[in-house]
Amino acid sequence: MRRFVIVGQKASASGEFLLDDVPGTGGRLDVLLRCVRAAMLYSHGIRRDVVVYLLLGGGPKAPRTLRFEGAAATFLRPDERSIGILVKKALVLERVHHAAARGGAVGGPFVPVRPGVGLANGGLSLILADLGGAHLYMLDEGAPDLRSETALGGADDVFFVGDHLGLDEATRASLSAAGARPIGLGPVSVHAEDAIAVLWNEVDRRDATRG
Ligand SMILES: C[S@@+](CC[C@H](N)C(=O)[O-])C[C@H]1O[C@@H](n2cnc3c(N)ncnc32)[C@H](O)[C@@H]1O
Repeated sequence: MRRFVIVGQKASASGEFLLDDVPGTGGRLDVLLRCVRAAMLYSHGIRRDVVVYLLLGGGPKAPRTLRFEGAAATFLRPDERSIGILVKKALVLERVHHAAARGGAVGGPFVPVRPGVGLANGGLSLILADLGGAHLYMLDEGAPDLRSETALGGADDVFFVGDHLGLDEATRASLSAAGARPIGLGPVSVHAEDAIAVLWNEVDRRDATRG
């Protein structure tokens, strides 16, 4: 099970953004929507062995976290608007606000809001607790190249990805303290969703080599 955490520094934690202007009204939530597609979908299919966390750090309800599980996801379509609709519906469900405010459903802080989608009140520390003892990597421009990371590609790998602003200093410090290794993808800074595609390509190749 590979897991991705996309850190949206300003991404809206409430559903009050406009679908016709997600970048302007959602704190660049559009970046995170594209990351969901890149992390979870391949051509004509859903990756079942992936979990994606969206850390929503913007707006009055922040921080909140959406968790997408490939194993249980249904009707996940590749276009940004339909993923935006899914996210908006998940964030505006009042019963979730109430349940999450009480500490979440039995079995953990994530309250189910759609098949394969859970919502929790909380940010990085909640995510780190949910991840348990995993191998953590943070994707960072200028870091040692992933091709020299021979251990990368294990089943419990977790990859932290920044948004259009990158990873902020506080997040970097917390991740370093949690043992996350910085890895680079090459000499060019690419968009977050492209970074995920490059990373998946490397992991897919290693999986194919292992057989
Ligand atoms: C658009 S980039 C962030 C750019 C931002 N201006 C900065 O300086 O951090 C979005 C995220 O994609 C990942 N990323 C992009 N290019 C990368 C590269 N060449 N190596 C490693 N990670 C990369 C990083 O996680 C980064 O935070």
